[in-house]
Amino acid sequence: MAFILCYLLAFAFFNYAEAQQLQSNISLGSALTPTTNSSWASRSGMYAFGFYKQGNGFAVGIVVAGIPERTVVWTANRDGGLVSDNASLLFTSAGIALRSTQGQSLVIGENNVSSASMMDSGNFVLYNASGAIVWQSFRYPTDTLLPTQPLLAGKELLSAKSETNHSSGIFRLAMQVDGNLVQYPVDTGNDSPYSARYAYYASYTDRSGTNVSLNLGVNGRLYLLNDTGGILKNLFDGATRGWSYLARIDADGIFRVYSYDLKQKGNWSIEWSSSEDRCVPKGACGVNSYCVTMGARADCPCLPGFEYVNPGDQTLGCESNSSVVDVCKLKNSNCSYAILELGSTTWENEPYMQLSSSGKEDCKQACLDDLNCQAAIFDGSTCIKQRPPLRYGRRDMSTPNILFIKEVVMSSVPPAPDAVVPKGSRKDDKKLFLIIGVSFTALGSILLVISVILLWKHNVWAYKRMNELNGDAEWNEDGAPRPYAYEELVKMTNNFNEEVGRGASGTVYKGAIANSQKLVAVKRLEKVATGEGDKEFQNEMRVIGRTHHRNLVHLHGYCLDGPKKLLVYEYMSNGSLADILFTSEGKPNWEERMGIARNIARGFLYLHEECDKQIIHCDIKPQNILMDEYMCPKIADFGLAKLLQQDQTRTTTGIRGTKGYVAPEWHRKMPITVKADVYSFGIVLLEIVCCRRNVDLSLPHDEAILDDLVYHYFESGQLEKLVGDEEINIRQLERVVRVAIWCIQDEPSLRPSMKKVLLMLEGTVDIPVPPSPVSFLSTI
Ligand SMILES: *[C@@H]1O[C@H](CO)[C@@H](O)[C@H](O)[C@H]1NC(C)=O
Ligand SMILES: *[C@@H]1O[C@H](CO)[C@@H](O)[C@H](O)[C@H]1NC(C)=O
Ligand SMILES: *[C@@H]1O[C@H](CO)[C@@H](O)[C@H](O)[C@H]1NC(C)=O
Ligand SMILES: *[C@@H]1O[C@H](CO)[C@@H](O)[C@H](O)[C@H]1NC(C)=O
Repeated sequence: MAFILCYLLAFAFFNYAEAQQLQSNISLGSALTPTTNSSWASRSGMYAFGFYKQGNGFAVGIVVAGIPERTVVWTANRDGGLVSDNASLLFTSAGIALRSTQGQSLVIGENNVSSASMMDSGNFVLYNASGAIVWQSFRYPTDTLLPTQPLLAGKELLSAKSETNHSSGIFRLAMQVDGNLVQYPVDTGNDSPYSARYAYYASYTDRSGTNVSLNLGVNGRLYLLNDTGGILKNLFDGATRGWSYLARIDADGIFRVYSYDLKQKGNWSIEWSSSEDRCVPKGACGVNSYCVTMGARADCPCLPGFEYVNPGDQTLGCESNSSVVDVCKLKNSNCSYAILELGSTTWENEPYMQLSSSGKEDCKQACLDDLNCQAAIFDGSTCIKQRPPLRYGRRDMSTPNILFIKEVVMSSVPPAPDAVVPKGSRKDDKKLFLIIGVSFTALGSILLVISVILLWKHNVWAYKRMNELNGDAEWNEDGAPRPYAYEELVKMTNNFNEEVGRGASGTVYKGAIANSQKLVAVKRLEKVATGEGDKEFQNEMRVIGRTHHRNLVHLHGYCLDGPKKLLVYEYMSNGSLADILFTSEGKPNWEERMGIARNIARGFLYLHEECDKQIIHCDIKPQNILMDEYMCPKIADFGLAKLLQQDQTRTTTGIRGTKGYVAPEWHRKMPITVKADVYSFGIVLLEIVCCRRNVDLSLPHDEAILDDLVYHYFESGQLEKLVGDEEINIRQLERVVRVAIWCIQDEPSLRPSMKKVLLMLEGTVDIPVPPSPVSFLSTI
C-alpha cells in the first residue's frame, strides 16, 4: 500500500512539476561572473547554469548543483577553451554573451530573445517575447542525457576527454536515422555498412523508422521510441526509487545510466552499462597498443619493440624508435630486420596485401622480404600484411592470429644471409627478453584474459542472438499485469504446443503475442492451493506485477478462468542458470559467474528489502533463475509461494537428511523468514562457484553433498580442490566460500541479510571466518 502511495505521489509530483514549469526567470541584462554570482539556479536548486571550475580556469555550462558531488551535465562551446576569473556572462536579446580577455563571443546565439529560465528538469531555455521557446539546451546534448531529455534521430552524444576535462573526447553515441542506436569512435561516418566495422555497441533496431529517439525516463528507464511514439525497445528497465538519474557516454567510451540517492548524498552509482568490458570501445587503447582487461580496469601495453608516445597518456598510443627507422631508410646504412611475434590479439584489419594459403614461416619471410611490410597477421592460413599504425588492438585468447612485427636491428656489418634472426647476438638477448616479457605478461594475465575470451564469445553470441531477436525482445514494462482470457492464451501458445519447462508449480509453454512476434512464457499453475480465492490470486498478481527490477522476470499478465490459473511472463531466451552451470560446454568463467551471483543477490535484495511488500521466494534454485539474452540472470517464480499448496515448493532428497535448497527451519516448524531464502541462495552460490549440483549422487559418497564437502575443504585449507583446473584467485574463492558458509548456517539468525551478502560479494566489507554451519544448531 505504502508503495502505491509513493508511486502516486511521485507521479503527482512530476505532473505538478510539468504543469507548473518550475523555473527561475532570468531577465534581459542579467549577468554572471565566475567568482561572485556565478550561476542561475533552477527553482529547486537542483540544476544551475553558469560558470563552473575546470582545471585552473572556468567553463560555461549546466551542473547538478543540488548535491555535494558537483556533476557537469552540459557545456557550452565545449572545445572553446577556458576563461579566467575576470570573464563575465551577459544575457542579451541576442542570447548569452561571454566576455573575456580573448574578446566577446556568443556562447548561445538566437535572435529576439526576451527571457530565459533554468528549469528543474535541467533544461536551460530561451524564450521570445511571445513566450515561445527559441532555444533549449535539451536539444544540444554534449555527453549527458537527463530524464525527459530525448536524443533525437540524427543527433549524437560525444564523450568528454576525461572525467575532469569536458571538452570533446574520442567516442560517440549516435541515434541514427535508420533507427539504430550505435556507438563508434569519433571520425567514423554513420553510413553503414562502411561504418559498421567501427561500431562497438548497437541496439539492433535498424530499419525501425527514420525518427527513432533515445529517452531516459524519470525512473531511470532507458528506452527507444519509434516514429509514432510507441516503445521500440527498453535498454534498461529503470527502478522505482525516487532517485535522480542521468545517462552519459563516459570518457572511456561506455554508455552508462547512473543513479543518485538524494537522501544518502553518496556517489553516482552505475545502474546500466552498454558494456561491462572496458576493452570493448574501439580506441580504448591508442595505436600500436592493445587492450587487456585487468579486473575492472583496462591496460594498454605497447606492441613489442614500441614505446609510449607519452608515457603519461596511454591513449596516445605507441611508436617504434623512429630515429632507428629513419636511419635505416637511408639505403646505405647497414640494417637488418628481425620479426617479433605476438599471439592472441585482434586488430582492425587494414591489409594492403594478402597472401593466401601460406604457412607461418612463409608469412614471416614474406614480411621480412617486403620493405613496406611493418606488420603482418597470420590467421592460420592467410598472411595479411598490415598498413601501420595498427589500431583497435585487443587481447583475445580465442583467436589463432599471430601478429608479426618487423623490428630493425642496427649492425655495423652487412647482414649475413641468415641474419634474419641473428643468433647469439646481444640483440637476440634483447629479443629473448622481449619475448619472455611478452610471454610473462601473457601468462600473468591469463586468468583475466580467459574471462575476456568468454565474455567476447558471449558477446559475439549475444550479438547473433540480438540480430535474430531483433524486434522481438522489446517490452512495454508500463503498468500492472493485464488479465488475459483463456482463449487468448490458447491462441498465443498454439494450444499449449511447445513446452519449455516444467517445475513444481506448473508447466511453462512458449507463446507469442498475437499480431507481433513478442515471445512470452505462459505458465500453467498446477496444484494451486484449494480455497485460494480469486481475490487473493488477483492481489498476489498485483504485488508481483508491481515489482520492477532488472534481475526479476517481469510478469506481463495472468489468466483466471475458474480453476485455471495461468501467468504470462517475458520470455527468457537463454534457459535457466541450471542449464548453463551444469553442462560441460560453454560454462561461464569465474568473473562471469561472480557477476551472475551478484546480480541474483541484487534481485533478492529487492524482493526482501526494496519492494513495498516483502516477498519471500521460498523456492530458490538454479532452475528458477533464468538467463536473458545478455546472459543476465533474472529470478523467476517469486511471489508464488503463497498461492501454492504447502510443501510442494520444497524438495527433499531424503539422503542423510540433506535439505537440498531448503532451509532447515522448514523441517522444524519454525517461522519462515527471508533468511530461508538466504539459505537457499547460499547453496546456489556454492553451485555457482563449483559448477556442480549441490547433491550429485553419481559422485563418490564423501563428495556427493557439496555443502558438506565445501566446509570440509574450507576447514582444512584445501579450497583449491573445489575448482579443479580452473584458474581462480584463491583469495577471491575463499571470500565467496565464506559468504556462502555464512548463508547456510543452520541457525537463521546467524545468516546475513541479503544486503550484507551483496556487500560481501562486492568486496566492500570484511568477511569474518564463518563457524561450521551446524555448530549453532537451534533446538529442534
Ligand atoms: C516567469 O516567467 C513566466 C513567463 O514569462 C511567468 O508566467 C511567471 O510568472 C514568471 N515567474 C516568476 C516567479 O517570476
Ligand atoms: C520526431 O520525433 C520527435 C519526438 O519524438 C518529434 O518532436 C518530431 O517532431 C519528430 N519529427 C518528425 C519529422 O516526425
Ligand atoms: C510504434 O510502436 C507502436 C507500439 O509499439 C506500434 O503500435 C506502432 O505501429 C509503431 N509505429 C511504427 C511506425 O512502427
Ligand atoms: C632510439 O634510437 C636511438 C638512435 O639509435 C638511440 O640512441 C636510442 O637509445 C633509442 N631509444 C630507445 C628507447 O631504444
